[in-house]
Amino acid sequence: MQKKVALITGAARGIGYGIATCLARQGTQIVIADMNGQAARKSAKQLAADTGVATLGIACDICDRTQVAAMVRKAVKHFGQIDILVNNAGITRDGLILRMKDEDWDLVLSINLKGAFLCTKSALKYMSKQRSGTIINIASIVGAMGNAGQANYVASKAGLIGLTKTIAREYSNRNVTANAVAPGFIDTAMTQALSEQVRTDLAKQIPLGRLGSSGDVANAVRFLASPAAAYITGQVIHVNGGMYM
Ligand code: NAI
Repeated sequence: MQKKVALITGAARGIGYGIATCLARQGTQIVIADMNGQAARKSAKQLAADTGVATLGIACDICDRTQVAAMVRKAVKHFGQIDILVNNAGITRDGLILRMKDEDWDLVLSINLKGAFLCTKSALKYMSKQRSGTIINIASIVGAMGNAGQANYVASKAGLIGLTKTIAREYSNRNVTANAVAPGFIDTAMTQALSEQVRTDLAKQIPLGRLGSSGDVANAVRFLASPAAAYITGQVIHVNGGMYM
């Protein structure tokens, strides 16, 4: 994957940074886009120091069409191309349906689903012209299973799976593939917000007996982004320790 360029959203920390690290270790140049611009630049600098690859940190709120277009333009201007887009940025605002505020529904759908749509649209303009590229959407186990207390998040992740299949159908003729990775419960800030008791109970429901790591998810992304996955499109790879089969 020498000299390829990957743009990863929400990559200042967590799973996104794990994906950035995994791809960088094999020579892929990395654009870290994150709403937290300072953290994006700091993480990009750290990654370059650790791996020796060229990186770029960009501040971008993926809900904002103008910021997304500018971010993709900046990445292409800097590196000349985008080969891999990883739509990773995502949030939770949990609550049972009757108690869920409209604002929390809108915010989660706006970041997790519309944000991915906007980034995809901007990147596809370049990938179509290049006649090559791959888009990897970070969905979730709950997008396939459903989950009490997460109607907004589940709807966004199920939507992301539908979006993935549609990109695959619309852009195969341009040699652009699209796949989703659906992580189970992964040890990041998102799940560290849960109580120790909830985390222990969760681990008991996982056949492999532990929460996953960012590296577990990143390895699946690395495979999908590699030439070895050239004939795979429109698929969902579950990385969940066997929690959902
Ligand atoms: P995290 O909360 O550690 O990191 C998310 C990053 O996204 C942060 O750096 C944040 O600044 C950035 N971000 C948030 N809103 C943004 C916006 N509007 N524009 C740009 N950047 C924004 O989350 P984590 O755990 O690393 O999750 C990454 C992805 O993996 C998310 O899509 C999440 O839904 C998904 N996922 C996580 C699981 C877990 O157990 N941690 C399980 C399944 C899926």
